[in-house]
Amino acid sequence: AAPLVIAIDGPAASGKGTLARRLAAHYGLRHLDTGLTYRAVAQRMLAYGLPLDNVSAAETAAGQLDLAQLDRDLLSTHVIGEAASKVAVMASVRAILVEAQRAFASALPGAVLDGRDIGTVVCPDAAVKLYATASADVRATRRLHEILDRGGAADYATILADIERRDARDMGRADSPLRPAADAHLLDTSEMDIETAFQTAKAIIDDAI
Ligand code: C5P
Repeated sequence: AAPLVIAIDGPAASGKGTLARRLAAHYGLRHLDTGLTYRAVAQRMLAYGLPLDNVSAAETAAGQLDLAQLDRDLLSTHVIGEAASKVAVMASVRAILVEAQRAFASALPGAVLDGRDIGTVVCPDAAVKLYATASADVRATRRLHEILDRGGAADYATILADIERRDARDMGRADSPLRPAADAHLLDTSEMDIETAFQTAKAIIDDAI
């Protein structure tokens, strides 16, 4: 049998990560948050004090990446997310990371991958493609609560501005911009809690596979 691949794309805080994790558990598939791969490269650059547009250093960091060692807690900061979206504009860095992501997707029994270009570039033949969206206001509010729940400090206006700047960079770049694949199912989670989003996605997937 061929591996079952489910592609989930969407902007920051659209709910795609939570959705991807739950769907992977439900269908017994592996899960890769591809954002972590860009974050890991950015984290290395920051740790070594390298400029984020240093292509050869970023290529080296991408080449050394070990998907089994991605540490979500270390990589989940705001500063690293912002740096990741700068690293992610470099085509040669993307090519290296996309190759690793495709290798992950190609192993049995299959996988759920979430990111920005999974349905369009990484896994264009995925069995099901979802594009999660939510209004910028809802996404900023979710991010704010996540940070406050973890005991961090943040304010709504800064988070909203950050989200809008990151969306603009991700949608506006030349290589693999964030956009729904032609055959993606749109899932607007603005008015949905996690359970409703999961049930809606599950219904779409069950219908398609
Ligand atoms: O999803 P996350 O916030 O972890 O992604 C961090 C950044 O990595 C995004 O803003 C985007 O620039 C980049 N990214 C990407 N392609 C992916 C996943 C993430 O360009 N498939």
